Amino acid sequence: MKRARTAVLVSGSGSNLQALLDAARDPGFPAEVVLVISNVAGVRALERARSAGVETRVVDHRRFDDRESFDTELAGLVRGRDCSIVCLAGFMRILTAGFVAAWPDRILNIHPSLLPLFPGLHTHQRALDAGMTIAGCTVHLVSADLDAGPIVAQAAVPVLPGDTAERLAARILVQEHRIYPLALALLAAGRVRVENGRVLLDAPLPDPNQAVAVPDRA
Ligand code: GRF
Repeated sequence: MKRARTAVLVSGSGSNLQALLDAARDPGFPAEVVLVISNVAGVRALERARSAGVETRVVDHRRFDDRESFDTELAGLVRGRDCSIVCLAGFMRILTAGFVAAWPDRILNIHPSLLPLFPGLHTHQRALDAGMTIAGCTVHLVSADLDAGPIVAQAAVPVLPGDTAERLAARILVQEHRIYPLALALLAAGRVRVENGRVLLDAPLPDPNQAVAVPDRA
């Protein structure tokens, strides 16, 4: 099996990166992480990549005059490692339309809300403020619009009495670590098709509780 060469872009702790690295340790996993790029030096995510023996790069966005030149540098690195998939894992920069167009339907992002609800920042507090009784996370294909793009996987958690944004975030993060490897595996295995802005899977997932993209029954 040829595994899909994958680059992961990070900015911080990298717990989602860790989930991807752990999944990719299995030689049967259809993707391998070959490059981790951070826009911030010294973050935990870089240590996690090094411990897994994965090449790391720091590209500080502040060195660049504009988003285009920053993204051109990123794209050069990703292309240089021959990556067919890019995963954003807590990457706190907005990619340009040019970068997104270079890997059409091949860039994944994890977002800590049930999109299309609560795109952007402070998702957990906004879910609490809205009186939501469930919250969750989404893995989606990246489009030129922020936190938009076809949904590949979602997981929901209950909002519990007395929840704070921190407690809710911790409960959601557990689910992020479950669905991100799942979504990457689906994409890498060629099981994700996009039609009319929606993801169709080639077949239902074995565990229907994990199935979140719509299986294509046509
Ligand atoms: C996660 O909550 C992710 O959904 C969001 O940023 C956070 C990153 O956490 N985009 P980590 O760096 O993966 O631990």
